[in-house]
Amino acid sequence: MNKIGQIKLPGFILTGAIAGTITLLFAFAPMPQTKDWVAPPSAEKVSNPVTSDASSIEAGKNIYKKNCYDCHGKKGKGDGPKSAELDKNPQDFTKAEFQKQSDGALFWKITEGKKPMPSFKNELTKEQRWQVINYVRTLGKKN
Ligand code: HEC
Repeated sequence: MNKIGQIKLPGFILTGAIAGTITLLFAFAPMPQTKDWVAPPSAEKVSNPVTSDASSIEAGKNIYKKNCYDCHGKKGKGDGPKSAELDKNPQDFTKAEFQKQSDGALFWKITEGKKPMPSFKNELTKEQRWQVINYVRTLGKKN
């Protein structure tokens, strides 16, 4: 009796350890919707050559309406008319977490795109991409 008990005990511990490990792996596995899009450090350091003033913000607003509004929504909350059909949530531009990224990082993301977000490398000139960033910055200020 005692012997069987002693043989069984390690088995139980082992099964428990394996089950525990699997549970932990699932618990800590990255969630599919987490924010994991990071611009390379060299892109982050690039500074915005377009001054943020009334005219560049106005130009950026028009670019935004035509090219970004559908997914990112009027106020940049990621609730545009097309957002429901995307398999990934557009980010919320009003959040401090988004706004703390550098202009260079945003420029890189807008240039490259990441499915379902399109690349704007050929769609917008560099100046237009910087202008739209100046506009996106204003979305973070209102809250
Ligand atoms: C077809 C829908 C769609 C359009 C159009 C679109 N985006 Fe996006 N955008 C997304 C989605 C979805 C993400 C999230 C991608 C991810 O994190 O994998 C995103 C992410 C971003 C990000 C990065 C957010 C972050 O913190 O990582 C920026 C910046 C951005 N979009 C700007 C723009 C701008 C500016 C335009 C217009 C010039 C635009 N997007 C047009 C869907 C879109």
